[in-house]
Formats: sequence, C-alpha cells, structure tokens
Amino acid sequence: MALRTSFTNLMSIAHPIASAPMGGEAGGALAAAVSNGGGLGLIGAGRGDRDWLTREAGIARKSTANPWGIGFLVWAIDPDAVAFALEFQPAAIVLSFGDPQPFARRVHDSEAELILQVTDLDEARRAVDVGADIIVAQGSDAGGHCGEHGLGTMSFVTAVVDLAGSTPVLAAGGIGDGRGLAAALTLGAAGALIGTRFQATPEALVSAEIVKALLDADGEDTEVNRTLDIARGSAWPHRYPARTLRNEVLERWRDRDDELRSDTATLAEYIDAAARGDLSVAPVWAGQGVGLVTSVDSAEDIVRRIVDEAEQALDRITR
Ligand SMILES: Cc1cc2nc3c(=O)[nH]c(=O)nc-3n(C[C@H](O)[C@H](O)[C@H](O)COP(=O)(O)O)c2cc1C
Repeated sequence: MALRTSFTNLMSIAHPIASAPMGGEAGGALAAAVSNGGGLGLIGAGRGDRDWLTREAGIARKSTANPWGIGFLVWAIDPDAVAFALEFQPAAIVLSFGDPQPFARRVHDSEAELILQVTDLDEARRAVDVGADIIVAQGSDAGGHCGEHGLGTMSFVTAVVDLAGSTPVLAAGGIGDGRGLAAALTLGAAGALIGTRFQATPEALVSAEIVKALLDADGEDTEVNRTLDIARGSAWPHRYPARTLRNEVLERWRDRDDELRSDTATLAEYIDAAARGDLSVAPVWAGQGVGLVTSVDSAEDIVRRIVDEAEQALDRITR
C-alpha cells in the first residue's frame, strides 16, 4: 500500500513526510537525504544568512535530483531573502513564525510551492487567505519554537484540516515514528513534518553532545519556555516560546524572566558557556516525541522506516 496523498501528488514525491526546516541544523545534506528517501527535505535557512544558504542549497542541488525546499523564520528575514532563495530553484518555500503576506506573491510567481507553518487558528485562517499551497499545523507537542497558546497536535491538526478545505495540511509536533504518521493521516492530514527525530542523523548539523542528550531524554524532560531565549539574548518575538530539554539555567530561572533580563553577570556567563557548547546552559530543542529517538540512523532510512511502520499500523486497524 503506497501512502499517496494530496501532498505527495502536489510535490511529486513518494512519501508523505517532510523534514522540518530546522534553522542552522537542517542543511543541504539532511534535506537531500530525506528527499532521496522519497520525502520532502527542507533546508532551515532561519534568519536568511546568504553565505550559509548558498553553501547548503548547493549541497542539496548536487546531492539529490528529487524535490527539496528552503524554510525561513518570517519575523527575522529581510525583504529580499525569499527572492534570493528562489534563485536556487527549490520546489518549496516554507515560511514560519510571522506574517507571510509580504513574501507570498513572490513565491506564487515562481515555480515553488508556498508552505506556511501555523501555530494557532488565526494563523491558519491567514494562511488560507494568503493562498498557501500547503499548511503545516504545528501543535504544541513540537520541538523548537511554537505558539504561545498552542493546542496539542491532535486537536490542532483536526481543527486546521477542517478550516483548510482542499489545501493539504501536514501535521507537526511529536511525530517520530509510523504510528504518528498513521495518526496524522487518520486525522485528515496529508502527511507529517518531522523535526526532532531528524536531529539524530549523521546528515544533520547537530553536535554529538546534543544527539546524546536527545537519545537520553524522554518527552517529560521537555518544557515550553522563554528562559533560554532570554538567556542567550535572542530577539524571538514574545508570542513564540520554545520547547527545549530542561537544563540548569531553566531550573534556576524559571518564571523569573524580567530578573534574568537585567542580570548582566549571568547573561555574560551564559554567552561564554553556550559558546563552549555546555548543554547545562545552552538550549537543546526537542519535542514531546523525543522518547522515540533511540538510535542514530540515516535520514533516508528513517523516512523509509516511518512509512513502513505507518503502512503496518493502518493495515492493523483496517484488518
Ligand atoms: C532543533 C529545531 C529547530 C527548529 N528550527 C525551526 C526553524 O528554524 N524554522 C521553522 O519553521 N521551524 C523550526 N522548528 C520547528 C519545526 O519546523 C517543527 O514544527 C517541529 O520540529 C515539529 O515537531 P517535532 O520536533 O516534535 O517533530 C525547529 C524544530 C527543532 C526541533
């Protein structure tokens, strides 16, 4: 049984899986490996660093003949970032965390599909109005930044599917194996977008220490917070906190955001320790499905395994 959906048809890919455009961590090698496995690999161009994107898009282009895409943090990019990315001829542009309106026309006028990741129902309605080709419904189970009052993946995906009409919806947040993909499809989603699981791959630009932390963790070790963004002096908008593994800084400064902002000594110490990659202070972004990360595998194998497992899960319940 092949899992053909409106998403696989639109993108001309074999499997209904996309890898998340994890800023700085999902480079060209990860995107290409996912695409070679039959999914849609997405480069995480984050704030739109031109040199980084030029290098990573070059790697993707030479490593796969299959469709792949590029994702940005909308709140952080300059007006020309999307036009610059389109020069690499990605099959899709993903816009997350901010108002996509100023960039939508540019993508619609290109060959690329416009994928909008949304974190609440207002953003989902806006994505429909803007003419998204695909909507990613990111539930609060997700690793990394998320909506302030986000619904859990199950409730949110269902609601977004209902309001998206014929626009394909991908479910994101807490999906790390075939049971999760099968559940997403059963909710009416046309596929899954997966982040945390793809960090534990040789292709991701992730340190061995972070991979070990992910392997050792389970979902109860994660927490949504702004503390670590404040500690690292990040300009993320208030409405998007992040789900990370708990660490010493989070334990010490939880619910003391204003105090932390004005504690210059702690902030200076933090910068030094984070630069050394000290994970007792630096954030490890992880979703509630992190307990499913039990081994390091190639991204291509992960795509195939998740599809096999989903087919078996669906077969079990229909038999
Ligand atoms: C390490 C990490 C970095 C992320 N960076 C980005 C990003 O730069 N842009 C973005 O749109 N989403 C980003 N996300 C969120 C993902 O797009 C996606 O919503 C999330 O990974 C799905 O949940 P999961 O991690 O449980 O699979 C990131 C997620 C992780 C885990």
